[in-house]
Amino acid sequence: MTLKIWRQVSPVKKGKMVSYHVTDVSPDMSFLEMLDVLNEKLILDGDDPIAFDHDCREGICGSCGLMIDGVAHGPEQATVCQLHMRSFKDGDVIDIEPWRSGGFPVVKDLVVDRSAFDRIISAGGFISAPTGTAPEAHATPVPKKDSDAAFDAATCIGCGACVAACPNGSAMLFTAAKVSHLGLLPQGQPERDARVLRMVGQQDAEDFGGCTNIGECSAVCPKGISMETISRLNHDLLGALRAGAVPAS
Ligand code: SF4
Ligand code: FES
Repeated sequence: MTLKIWRQVSPVKKGKMVSYHVTDVSPDMSFLEMLDVLNEKLILDGDDPIAFDHDCREGICGSCGLMIDGVAHGPEQATVCQLHMRSFKDGDVIDIEPWRSGGFPVVKDLVVDRSAFDRIISAGGFISAPTGTAPEAHATPVPKKDSDAAFDAATCIGCGACVAACPNGSAMLFTAAKVSHLGLLPQGQPERDARVLRMVGQQDAEDFGGCTNIGECSAVCPKGISMETISRLNHDLLGALRAGAVPAS
């Protein structure tokens, strides 16, 4: 296979696509294992290995995002660590790039800085509750449909594929998932208005674009976060603005 990979030494240096040839790629390898094989060869040859982000390699942590042939996470709706080489053919030429978004500046090669997501979470992705003895588990009943919807939203792993796929570079699906997750539960109600104002405010303060409901985000999301979460966020946002809520610090 021929891999055309984005190489960029540092955030301030200009990057370029560089071609590499890989052989003996097993169809059972994950995409990251295939990159490991290439990196071992580069190291043995005395070259700088390709920097790429990864951690769990189980589709949980969200750190392994790459653009593969122009598609966020590649040809399957899964994270790159769960993408297997059987999805490609012998002799394929594969383009591999980092997420392309003003909100995710390139750190090195395929690694981008996704700390903008952390700042959105810090702005309101939490509940304030007194600590102490854990309450009895059934003290706060939650309707099944609400807990299911909250769980679906909570499966967002913060990978950033939604931003990378969006022609506007919008982080709306991510923010909506985080707002929905807490806003659907009774425990999230006291700070619901302030939360949505603060998280959307932080999203706007970062270098992300606006949402125009194109839907590319949901199409590539490895966790299947739906566009309905964006409707829910807009509903909450309008409600908070109409109520004159202030984004308490
Ligand atoms: S909404 Fe989906 S694509 Fe976006 S960060 Fe969460 S898991 Fe990744
Ligand atoms: S390495 Fe954790 S989701 Fe891919």
